Amino acid sequence: MAERRVAPAFAPAVTAAAAGATTDAVLRTTTAGASRAVPGGFRRGQKILLVGEGNFSFALALALGLGSGDSIVATAFDTFREARDKYPTAVETNVAVLQRLGCRPLFGVDASRLASDPAVASALLEAQTGEASSSARLPAFDRIVFNFPHTGGATTADIKRNQALLRDFLAQAALLLKTPVDKRAKSLDPEAEAALAAAMLMGRRI
Ligand SMILES: C[S@@+](CC[C@H](N)C(=O)[O-])C[C@H]1O[C@@H](n2cnc3c(N)ncnc32)[C@H](O)[C@@H]1O
Repeated sequence: MAERRVAPAFAPAVTAAAAGATTDAVLRTTTAGASRAVPGGFRRGQKILLVGEGNFSFALALALGLGSGDSIVATAFDTFREARDKYPTAVETNVAVLQRLGCRPLFGVDASRLASDPAVASALLEAQTGEASSSARLPAFDRIVFNFPHTGGATTADIKRNQALLRDFLAQAALLLKTPVDKRAKSLDPEAEAALAAAMLMGRRI
């Protein structure tokens, strides 16, 4: 998973968005302090898929840091209404600023079914060609990030559900990453494939 930090230059903008500032105010705050230094090895132009966003503050910090959101596909499991109910001051502002930066946030995206999600495929193609459609070619992402994946709860059944989410997400991520994880993993079982994907996601050499 990517390092979960907001570059200090963008912290005021993310805080302003969380407090319900207007889109213009958030963008003004950023321009004042921006250094364009983004931790985690992200670079402008990389196709980046964000999964399981909560209030889209990570997506916002990343797009502000890169100076553009047009190659970021940012997704949440919640519907827009659920996200807005959970994070009433932040979600609408974050989404509005992300849209101004060229990123189209998606709601209701399940991390365990990414490769077959038509909304992800369409956003992917839009990021590739600027044209919306449901027939994007896969795999296509340079980076896939799921910060703090969690299904909720702490019972044994909850933990098993969370393990299943991680396993399924990593197997899906392996299908969507540009790096040839899928070729190397073809002869492996799903758990080995998921471990390989995890290593790739964490940037380790394999
Ligand atoms: C602890 S929160 C972390 C939120 C955000 N990523 C962050 O780091 O602040 C766990 C997130 O996992 C998401 N989640 C749970 N099940 C999911 C699934 N099947 N697909 C995608 N996201 C899921 C929840 O909606 C929630 O936003």
